[in-house]
This record gives sequence, C-alpha cells and structure tokens, in this order.
Amino acid sequence: MESLTFSIVLLILLLNSFAFSLNFDTDKNALISFKNSITSDTNAILSINWSQNTSVCNWIGVSCGLKHGRVTALNLPRYDLAGTVAPHLGNLSFLRYLDISSNSFVGMLSFELSKLRRLKVMNLGANSFTGEIPTWLGSLPQLEELYLYNNSFLGKIPSSLFNNSKLQMLQILHLYSNKLSGSIPHVIFNVSSLREIRIGINSLSGRLPIDMCNNMPNIKFLALSWNQLEGQIPSNIWKCTHLDVLSLSFNNFSGSIPRETGRLSMLTKLHLGYNSGFQGGVPPEIGNLSRLEILGIGNASLTGIIPSSIFNMSYLEKLYLGDNKLTDLK
Ligand SMILES: *[C@@H]1O[C@H](CO)[C@@H](O)[C@H](O)[C@H]1NC(C)=O
Ligand SMILES: *[C@@H]1O[C@H](CO)[C@@H](O)[C@H](O)[C@H]1NC(C)=O
Ligand SMILES: *[C@@H]1O[C@H](CO)[C@@H](O)[C@H](O)[C@H]1NC(C)=O
Ligand SMILES: *[C@@H]1O[C@H](CO)[C@@H](O)[C@H](O)[C@H]1NC(C)=O
Ligand SMILES: *[C@@H]1O[C@H](CO)[C@@H](O)[C@H](O)[C@H]1NC(C)=O
Ligand SMILES: *[C@@H]1O[C@H](CO)[C@@H](O)[C@H](O)[C@H]1NC(C)=O
Ligand SMILES: *[C@@H]1O[C@H](CO)[C@@H](O)[C@H](O)[C@H]1NC(C)=O
Ligand SMILES: *[C@@H]1O[C@H](CO)[C@@H](O)[C@H](O)[C@H]1NC(C)=O
Ligand SMILES: *[C@@H]1O[C@H](CO)[C@@H](O)[C@H](O)[C@H]1NC(C)=O
Ligand SMILES: *[C@@H]1O[C@H](CO)[C@@H](O)[C@H](O)[C@H]1NC(C)=O
Repeated sequence: MESLTFSIVLLILLLNSFAFSLNFDTDKNALISFKNSITSDTNAILSINWSQNTSVCNWIGVSCGLKHGRVTALNLPRYDLAGTVAPHLGNLSFLRYLDISSNSFVGMLSFELSKLRRLKVMNLGANSFTGEIPTWLGSLPQLEELYLYNNSFLGKIPSSLFNNSKLQMLQILHLYSNKLSGSIPHVIFNVSSLREIRIGINSLSGRLPIDMCNNMPNIKFLALSWNQLEGQIPSNIWKCTHLDVLSLSFNNFSGSIPRETGRLSMLTKLHLGYNSGFQGGVPPEIGNLSRLEILGIGNASLTGIIPSSIFNMSYLEKLYLGDNKLTDLK
C-alpha cells in the first residue's frame, strides 16, 4: 500500500516535470519560430545572442517569471529587425508584455496572437504592419495598453474592439499615423478606463457623439487631429474633467467653440486650429484655463474680439490666433 502511494507520488512528480519541460519547450519553440521568421537582424542581436544551448530566460529581450520560469515579457524595441511575426508567438501563454516597436515588421497580425490571454501591454508601433485592426484584440481580457501607431493599418476601427465587457481594462489606445477611415465607433467613448486616446493622422470622418464625455472620467489625453471629422465639439466636453491635452486641429469641425471648454481646469494643451468651419469667437471662459501652456486656434474662421481673459493665463507659452478674422483688444 505504502509503495503504491509512493509510486503514485513519483508518477505525479514525473508527470509534473514532464509537463514543465513541455511548456518550457513550447516557449523556446515559439521564440525560435519568431527568430526564424525574421529576415533581417542588422546588428546580429538575435542570431548571436539567442543561442539554443542557453536558457531562453538569458536571451536578450526575454524575461521569465521567477516561480514558473515561463516567458512573461518580450522586449525588443529599436533592434532594426525586419520580417513577419510568426504565429507561434501566440504559444507564449504566460506573456504579459510585448514590445517590438520601432522595427520593420510587415504583414498582418496573425489570429494566433489572440491566444495571448495574459497580455497587458501590446506595443507594435512604428513598424509596417498592414491589414485591418483585428477584432480579436477586443477579446484579450487583460489588455491595458495597445500601441499600433505609425503603421499601415487600414479600414475602420472595429467597434467590436470596444463592445465587450471584457475590454474594460484598456487605458491607452494609440492608433495615430495609420490609414484608418470611417467614423470613430462611439462605443470607444464608453470604455471608462481609458486614459489616452490618440487616433490622429488618419482619414477618420463623421461626428463626435454629443454625450462623448459622459463616461470617460479618466481621460487625460484626447488627440484626434489630422482627420476629416466634422460637426460640433460636444458641449459636455467639460465632463472629461481630467483632460490634460485636447487636440482637435486639422479637421472640419464647425459650430462655436463650447464655452464649457473653459471648465477643463487641468488642461495644459488645447489645439483647435485649422478647422475651417468654426463660427463666432474665442469664448472668454478659455481664460479660466489657468494651467494652459499652449493655445492653438489659428486658421479656424474665428470672428470677434480677442477676449482679455486670454492674457490672464500665467503659464501660457504659445498662443496661435493667426489667420482668423479676430479684432484686437482696442
Ligand atoms: C545574451 O545577452 C545577455 C544580456 O545582455 C547576456 O547576459 C548573455 O550572456 C548573452 N548570451 C549570449 C550567448 O551571448
Ligand atoms: C553554445 O553554442 C555556441 C555556438 O552556437 C558555442 O560557441 C558555445 O560555446 C556554446 N556554449 C556552451 C556553454 O555550450
Ligand atoms: C505553437 O504554434 C504553432 C502555430 O501557431 C502551432 O503549429 C504549434 O503546434 C503550437 N504548439 C507548440 C507546442 O509549439
Ligand atoms: C512616426 O512617424 C512620424 C512620421 O512618419 C515620425 O515623425 C515619428 O518620429 C514616428 N514616431 C515614432 C515613435 O517612430
Ligand atoms: C454590441 O454587441 C451587441 C451584442 O453583443 C450587439 O447587439 C450590438 O449591435 C453591438 N454594438 C456595436 C456598436 O457593435
Ligand atoms: C454607453 O453606455 C451607456 C450606459 O451604460 C449607454 O446608455 C449608452 O448607449 C452607451 N453608448 C454607446 C455609444 O455605446
Ligand atoms: C466641411 O464641412 C462643411 C459643412 O460644415 C462642408 O460644407 C465642407 O464641404 C466640409 N469640408 C471638407 C473639406 O470636408
Ligand atoms: C487655412 O486653412 C485652409 C483650409 O481650411 C487652407 O486652405 C489655407 O491654406 C490655410 N491658411 C494658412 C495660412 O495656412
Ligand atoms: C470663467 O470665465 C468667465 C468669463 O471670463 C467668468 O465670468 C467666470 O466666473 C469664470 N468661471 C470660473 C469658474 O472661474
Ligand atoms: C484675471 O484673473 C483675476 C484673478 O484670477 C480676475 O480677478 C480677473 O477678473 C481676470 N480678468 C479677466 C479679464 O478675466
């Protein structure tokens, strides 16, 4: 009886270590496949350092969990790497942090990456990725930071990316400098965890929802410049109480600049210039923005007098009011 118990315990131990080394091989195989699909490694970083006779945990850019020894981070920004991203990367099931930004990766994002259930940070910025932004990104349950800026992503921003109760952890969304078109899905403004939305330098069109700031208590950085957005700036903008940067320039916004903008007391940068359709003038309430450092509202079809309150802002460093029809104080 005793020896049977002993045998069972031994068997369990053996199975455990077998499973352990199996998982460990899975990570190694995934990284070797990742390396093999890289076509250019100018500084020979991976070809020399990622040697098969050392543990992957010693490889440059790879971090492992202390307890389980599984790969938790792949951190290879600015390594001059080119090629595609092997679908095998999706087998790194303990991966929490992925940064391969500022390289020359190409191709579309493989569906296999949707298996990265523990991923918190995905940074693929400043590469040459193409195709549509995959909808499966919205099903990564832990995702907090998504950086896809400076690529060639095209098509619409999928609303299903945000229409998921799971994706209520997302804090940072950088999609700027791509080829995105269509309207901004309004559900984006219902992800209350968001701190930064940067989706400028695209071809987005349409209007902002009038209830835009009803459910964004944490938003600090809202940058939508260099698109083809139109319609009015929602007057409930003041409900985005923590806004630090608001950038809406180089669009086709119209209507008046809402007086309520003057209630955004945390604002340091306000860019509204190069919108051809504004009516009316600079609301005097803007002068209440006591922390404002940059006020850009040049070339925005503004009329009327320049309110004296503007000159009350003691931190103001840059003021652009040119190319309007504004008249001087006196
Ligand atoms: C790879 O780089 C790491 C970190 O710089 C270093 O500790 C390790 O010895 C290198 N391994 C090889 C095989 O060059
Ligand atoms: C690991 O392999 C490299 C060649 O890939 C060799 O130069 C090095 O001596 C090996 N190191 C060990 C510890 O076996
Ligand atoms: C890893 O991923 C690849 C491609 O996604 C797959 O073919 C392979 O079977 C997976 N499993 C292991 C253990 O490598
Ligand atoms: C993104 O692209 C722009 C223009 O191509 C460039 O000025 C900028 O430095 C790039 N940003 C990064 C982080 O690579
Ligand atoms: C969100 O999902 C629900 C059901 O899952 C669907 O009925 C609705 O149309 C979706 N809305 C958007 C904007 O995708
Ligand atoms: C945002 O959420 C509120 C309540 O949860 C809902 O009434 C509203 O329709 C949602 N708006 C969008 C654009 O999804
Ligand atoms: C800007 O919007 C106005 C209407 O508000 C429209 O007449 C005009 O064609 C639009 N311009 C561009 C460049 O889309
Ligand atoms: C002002 O904006 C219009 C487009 O709305 C553009 O045609 C014009 O060149 C701009 N003026 C200056 C001085 O940049
Ligand atoms: C904002 O500015 C307006 C006009 O400049 C002023 O009447 C008002 O009292 C100010 N509000 C606050 C909260 O400072
Ligand atoms: C400038 O600020 C002071 C103190 O905050 C306030 O009393 C005054 O009314 C302001 N002037 C204008 C023109 O808003």
